[in-house]
Amino acid sequence: MRIESDFLVIGSGIAGLSFALKAAKAGTVTILTKRDLRESATYYAQGGIASVSSSEDSFESHIKDTLDAGAGLCNRRIVEIVVRDAPERIKELIQRGVKFTGRAAADGLEFDLGKEGGHSKRRIVHAEDLTGKAVEEALVEKIRSNGNIRVFENHIAVDLISHAKFVSASPMERDMVWGAYGLDKSAGQVRAFSAKATILATGGAGKVYLFTSNPDIATGDGIAMAWRAGADVSNMEFIQFHPTCLYHSKAKSFLISEALRGEGAHLTVSDGTRFMERYHPMGDLAPRDIVARAIDFELKKSGDDCVYLDITHKGAEFIKSRFPNIYKKCLEFGFDMTIKPLPVVPAAHYICGGVAVDENGLSTIDRLWAIGETASTGLHGANRLASNSLLESLVFADRAVTDAVRLVKSGGEVPHIPEWETLGAVESDEAVVITQNWDEIRRFMWNYVGIVRSNKRLERASRRMSLLKNEINDYYWGFKITSNLIELRNIATVAEIIIRCALARKESRGLHYNIDYPERDDLNYARDTVIRP
Ligand code: FAD
Ligand code: SIN
Repeated sequence: MRIESDFLVIGSGIAGLSFALKAAKAGTVTILTKRDLRESATYYAQGGIASVSSSEDSFESHIKDTLDAGAGLCNRRIVEIVVRDAPERIKELIQRGVKFTGRAAADGLEFDLGKEGGHSKRRIVHAEDLTGKAVEEALVEKIRSNGNIRVFENHIAVDLISHAKFVSASPMERDMVWGAYGLDKSAGQVRAFSAKATILATGGAGKVYLFTSNPDIATGDGIAMAWRAGADVSNMEFIQFHPTCLYHSKAKSFLISEALRGEGAHLTVSDGTRFMERYHPMGDLAPRDIVARAIDFELKKSGDDCVYLDITHKGAEFIKSRFPNIYKKCLEFGFDMTIKPLPVVPAAHYICGGVAVDENGLSTIDRLWAIGETASTGLHGANRLASNSLLESLVFADRAVTDAVRLVKSGGEVPHIPEWETLGAVESDEAVVITQNWDEIRRFMWNYVGIVRSNKRLERASRRMSLLKNEINDYYWGFKITSNLIELRNIATVAEIIIRCALARKESRGLHYNIDYPERDDLNYARDTVIRP
C-alpha cells in the first residue's frame, strides 16, 4: 500500500525534524527514520551551536573564522547567510523548549558561551555538554504532538523514486523525484512513500571508516540514494577527523568535546610534553584538520597508540559542572579526568561534502532537497569550523521549507508509482559475506583514505573498491534486502565517491592531505570537486 503526503522527510535529526515542524503548517508530512525517532548524530552532539551572541563578538569575526577554516573553498555568500541567521534560529530553539546553559538576565538568557578550535571568540551556545540531546528531545516532543506529521520509525529508505528510473523513461530536461521506497524493518516489506517534495536529511557517513565518533545510523544513505538517482555530489574528499576521541577498546570512539580545549585543556605526548604550539600559532585551539594531522604525525613518530588530553589543572569542581556527561562516561571506562589526562585518538567525525545543493537546499534534481550533514551547501569549504554543523542544519531546514512549500502550493500531481519489485530474490544464506565486506571497506578506508593520503594508497583503495562493488551488487540483486545490506551498498557507494574525489584533487588543502602533493595549489584547485554518476 502506498503512503502519500505533501512532504516526505527522510531522517529525524535536527535537520529533518526542524523541516518537518515548519512544513506541517503548510501540508501533510511523513517522516521516515531508520531507528527510533531520536537516534541520530544530533542526539550525541556535545559542544554546541555557533552563534554570535555577545557584545565582544561580531558577525564579521564568525564569517572570517569560517572562511579561514574552510581554506579558500567556502562560498562567501552562504557563509554570510548562515552566520547572520544564527541568532534567529537559536531564539526559535528556545521557543521550542531547548534549555541552553546561561544566566537569567534582564533581556532574556545570558548564554554561557563556549570556545572551540578555529573560533577567535567565545560563541558556542550549549546545554552543558549534552547540547544535541537537549535539542533533539525538544524537537521530538513537538513532532509527537503534531497532527499533521506521520512518523514511520524503523523504516529505512531504500531508493528515491526518480521519475526517469521508476515512473517513465521519456526524456526530461531535468529529472525529478516523487518520494522514496522504504523498507519496514520489522515486516521485511518495501512500500512506496510518495510525495510532492522529498527532503533528504539522512546525516553523515562516518561508518565508512573503521574508527568514527558517529552513531551506527551514519552510513551516507542520502548521498548514495541521491547519487543513484543522478544528482550532483561535491567535495567528498573533505572528511573531518575529530582530534580527540577516547582511546579505549570498548568506548566506540566516544567523543571528548573540543570545548575541553576551549576551557584550557591541552594535548601532550606520553611524557607530558605539549606539542601543538609547534604546529600552529593557535596551539591546542588550531582548526581541526591541523590538530588531527599533528596527532597523526606525533603517533607515527613515537609509535604510541594515543596522545593525552590534560584538563586536570582546572580542578574537579569546574570539570564536573562544565562537562558532567563526559566526566561520567570517562569514569565508566575507568578514567578520572579530574586526576589524570585522558588517552585520545582522532576518528572520522564529519563529511563536509555531500549532495550538491543551491542556497535553498535544492539538489540538481527537481523536487529533491538535501539538508543537514547530507548536503554540500558551500558553508564548510575544505574544513568545517567547529559547531557550525547544527547551525547549518537549522538555517537550511528553514530555507528549504520556504522553497518546498512554494513548489507544493504551485500544484503538480504525483504520477502513478509502481510497486517495488523483488525480481525473484530469495532469503540470504550467507550473511557472513555482508559482515566481511563491511569490515573490509571500513578498514581500507581508514588505512588508505584517512588523515594522510598518497597516490599509491588511493589507487589501491580504488582497485579494492571496484572488486567489492561488483560483489555487493550481485548480492544486492540476488537476495531479499535487509537493512544491513542496504547500508553496506550505501557505504560502498560513498567510499567509492570519496576515493574518486580524493584522486581528482591533486593538491593538499584543508582536510585533504596528500603527501604526493603536499602544497595548496590555488591556480588549479581553488574550486569545488563536483561529480555526477
Ligand atoms: P543526523 O542528526 O545524523 O540525523 C540523520 C537521521 O537520518 C537519523 O534519524 C537517521 O536514522 C536517519 N536516516 C539515515 N539514513 C536513513 C535512511 N536510509 N532511511 C531512513 N532514515 C535514515 N555539530 C555541531 O555543530 N556541534 C556539535 O557540538 C557537534 N557535536 C558532535 C558530536 C558527535 C559525537 C557527533 C557524531 C557529531 C557532532 N556534530 C556537532 C555534528 C552534528 O551533530 C551533525 O552534523 C548533525 O547533527 C547532523 O544533523 P542531521 O540532521 O543532518 O543528521
Ligand atoms: C565537539 O564538541 O568537539 C564537536 C563539535 C563539532 O563537531 O562541531
